[in-house]
Amino acid sequence: MTTSTTATKPGAPDAPDVPISDPTPGAAAHVPAIRSLRRLLPYARPALPALIGSALTATVAMMCGLAFPLVIQMVIDGPIAQRDMSALWPLAGLLLALGVFEAGLFWVRRMLSARPTMAVEATMRASIYDHLQRLPVSFHDRWPAGQLMSRAVSDLATIRRFLAFGVVFLFVNLTTFVVGVIILLTLSWQLGLIIAALALPLIALCSLYETRYQVLARRSQDQVGDLATRVEESVLGIRILKAFGRSRYFSRQFLAEATALRETEIGKAKVVSKLWAVIIALPEIAFGLTLFLGIKQVADSSLSAGTLVAFFGVALGLRWPIDSIGWLLAMSNDAASATQRYFEVMDSPVTVSSPEHPQRASVPRGRVEFSGVRFRFADTSPDVDDLLRGIELSIAPGETVALVGATGSGKTTLTSLVNRLYDVTGGSITLDGIDIRDLDLADLRAQVAVAFEEPTLFSASIRENVLLGRPTGSDEDVLAALAVAQADFVQDLPWGLDTRIGEQGLSLSGGQRQRLALARAVVGNPAVLVLDDPLSALDIHTEAQVERALRSVLAGTTALVVAHRASTVQLADRVALLVDGRIAAVGTHSELMSAEPGYRDLLASQEDTAAAGLRRTREAGLPAHRSGNPTQPEVTP
Ligand SMILES: Nc1ncnc2c1ncn2[C@@H]1O[C@H](COP(=O)(O)OP(=O)(O)OP(=O)(O)O)[C@@H](O)[C@H]1O
Ligand SMILES: [Mg+2]
Repeated sequence: MTTSTTATKPGAPDAPDVPISDPTPGAAAHVPAIRSLRRLLPYARPALPALIGSALTATVAMMCGLAFPLVIQMVIDGPIAQRDMSALWPLAGLLLALGVFEAGLFWVRRMLSARPTMAVEATMRASIYDHLQRLPVSFHDRWPAGQLMSRAVSDLATIRRFLAFGVVFLFVNLTTFVVGVIILLTLSWQLGLIIAALALPLIALCSLYETRYQVLARRSQDQVGDLATRVEESVLGIRILKAFGRSRYFSRQFLAEATALRETEIGKAKVVSKLWAVIIALPEIAFGLTLFLGIKQVADSSLSAGTLVAFFGVALGLRWPIDSIGWLLAMSNDAASATQRYFEVMDSPVTVSSPEHPQRASVPRGRVEFSGVRFRFADTSPDVDDLLRGIELSIAPGETVALVGATGSGKTTLTSLVNRLYDVTGGSITLDGIDIRDLDLADLRAQVAVAFEEPTLFSASIRENVLLGRPTGSDEDVLAALAVAQADFVQDLPWGLDTRIGEQGLSLSGGQRQRLALARAVVGNPAVLVLDDPLSALDIHTEAQVERALRSVLAGTTALVVAHRASTVQLADRVALLVDGRIAAVGTHSELMSAEPGYRDLLASQEDTAAAGLRRTREAGLPAHRSGNPTQPEVTP
């Protein structure tokens, strides 16, 4: 994770007091800016004609600027020197025309570059969103949401600004400098050489500052990501923070991170201002020198006064191209590290994907078999054994198997393997005899529906939330699924199926959300239904109703149901007991109750917890309503 620390990276330049972020996942070592920026080319290609047009327009505009002093030279050495006022008017008209033309060109430049670069930004944003959707859950386990948000939003804006201004002005200013120096050399080669010699120290300075600045640019963008994560977590967890009175504690942490970001930004400004100071000072020295020599040459009559004025006019026209180097360098480095951060996500491999030539079951029936299934999370330390260590379990078509195990034994993990949210790290899972990795991923996920322990709902209508399980379903399908899930509360909502539920469905109760998630799982009539403790938040009465309705659905569907309670277990044809990463026993509920002391103890302890909870609620005069995962005490084998 990317919590900020106050440690200083060894060798971090310039700002020893600046707190830095731990490297974000995938953070690469220092890469020259140009190499990072080159990767933008495929995305920028459609905008290239417009960008080239924009750069050429701006270059011509700058050339107009350089032509001004040459016309003034003609005015001084012509009409003024010869006191011929009639020759002045055409030259004055030329100056006016040049000015109007230059202004028009700048307007055209802006019009040319704005729209195509916004299109590049939009395409890149769509690509990263699409990639984030395809990346496996294991990727999302590792990456904080704020880091992903900042890459998809602010980093892409930085890249767009670079394409619209940075890259254009890099070209324009460099060309202007080269053309300007050539004009200066033709006006006076001795004086011109002094200005041309400026290029050498400038190049050396820029390469020196590039590395320094890029470290800070990267750090600042990572810190923006940390900050976004912090905001996201505190907004989502606002109830907990308020309930525990920890808002101030989180505010302090937020402030510390915001301060760290400010320090980095100040560090960036310091680097740029130092560079800027030198960049401004160098031309001043060169100009002073050329002025001294130039006046001497005019005094010697080896240079005309008009030529000297023209020389300084052109030289002053080169001020902006030189001064802007610091700004452009900063912009390029910001864009380079934004590009790096973007591609760190884009380069993350989609490890869970459809095979090239997917197999198809001739008659899908829904037989699920686990053979020697092993699994460990990627971040598990090497001295810890696999979480699942050789699961053997066969579920016949139409059969319902309950999965029972201690908390933390890996039940949720096992259910996540069936639709390939994670891929097994050993052994295999087959659906109708075909390894699930050989099936088309979309097909597999259409056949295997899941309802998770923590139901996630989206800010959308009830209908949209349920139809996530079957995009082409009708209102009848939604109503039938809601009936199975006993979600009749929907009828009492102000707009029925069209009622929008708040962010993550916060405006619904836990039990209501669970029932919607269950409806979403059953709406598609899947061949295989995976339910991770789907009824834990329901009261006894509603649970019994859902169970009755589920029985009719489960009759034709293969189901794997994680259960903590005897009542849920009773839905199942067989029960599998998960102990130490293996299926320790399989049998009916009563068989396991009599033959497996471990199973008996497990259910008994859960029933005790539930009974205690129920006693407490009764004593408090509250209706029997379960929280957490207690077991229904009334149901005995
Ligand atoms: N994304 C993850 N990365 C690393 N470890 C994880 C991850 N998810 C779960 N674990 C670990 O794997 C173990 C099994 O977790 P799992 O959620 O499968 O347990 P469970 O049997 O469903 O528990 P419960 O009954 O409490 O729901 C736990 O020790 C947990 O800390
Ligand atoms: Mg679980």
